[in-house]
Amino acid sequence: MEKTQLEEYKRWFTEFVAGYYADGDGFLNQNINLKECHTHRVCKEMRELAAALEMSCSDSFLAEAIALFHDLGRFPQFKRYRTYKDTVSENHCLLSLNVLSAHCLLNNLPAEERAIIKKAVEFHGALKLPLLDDRTLHFARMIRDTDKLDIYNLLVQNYRILTETPDQFKWELEFPDSPECNSQIVEALLNNCLIDYRQIRTLTDAKLLQLGWVFDVYFDYTLQQIRDRGYLKALIRFLPNTNSTNTVIKHIETYVETRLAGGS
Ligand SMILES: [Fe+2]
Repeated sequence: MEKTQLEEYKRWFTEFVAGYYADGDGFLNQNINLKECHTHRVCKEMRELAAALEMSCSDSFLAEAIALFHDLGRFPQFKRYRTYKDTVSENHCLLSLNVLSAHCLLNNLPAEERAIIKKAVEFHGALKLPLLDDRTLHFARMIRDTDKLDIYNLLVQNYRILTETPDQFKWELEFPDSPECNSQIVEALLNNCLIDYRQIRTLTDAKLLQLGWVFDVYFDYTLQQIRDRGYLKALIRFLPNTNSTNTVIKHIETYVETRLAGGS
């Protein structure tokens, strides 16, 4: 992808998002802003990952376009349903594809780039990636990794607010803040398996699921960032001190250290 094309996309994105803010609707504006800022941060993460992977300029621009487009569906989703929960609204990844086609954004691109962007956007939030060709898989993995980096960053900030200044907590809390956890989740994590959202009953389950995302991190660079920026340590700090959580924490810490030492 040419740099000028990416720049054009960025100008379009700014205008597109501006159309979702509404005068006097603070709740909407705050939520739209959350995703607008998330998108910009994921773009930055993507530039850094592409640099770490020593990708060509044109592939780096393609990767950044994927980052810019991955959550396009979040804007119509929130406007229509006033929630970011896919389970009670629509799959936001598919909504992103709808936006791409409704605005004919990919029409000028070579067919190969168009196909890569669509697949990477479509599966960025799926539990697992489907079978894809190597090149598409590479970009699909990149957006999943960079999205996770920013989500970890947001989670840590929000758990801190929830613990220290709960009256300032603005996220939708989907589960009761109980120290109990689902034994199936513990079992799955000890087997390096990803957790399905439907298994979550408590906030502790949700935090364990989030810790377990490390099994779905593809690039060692990303895993290193997750560790070195202190996201894992911070998440662990917000877990209750029980036998189950301690067993999982130990397992995950060993997994990360072994992998970063080149042991798996
Ligand atoms: Fe997303």
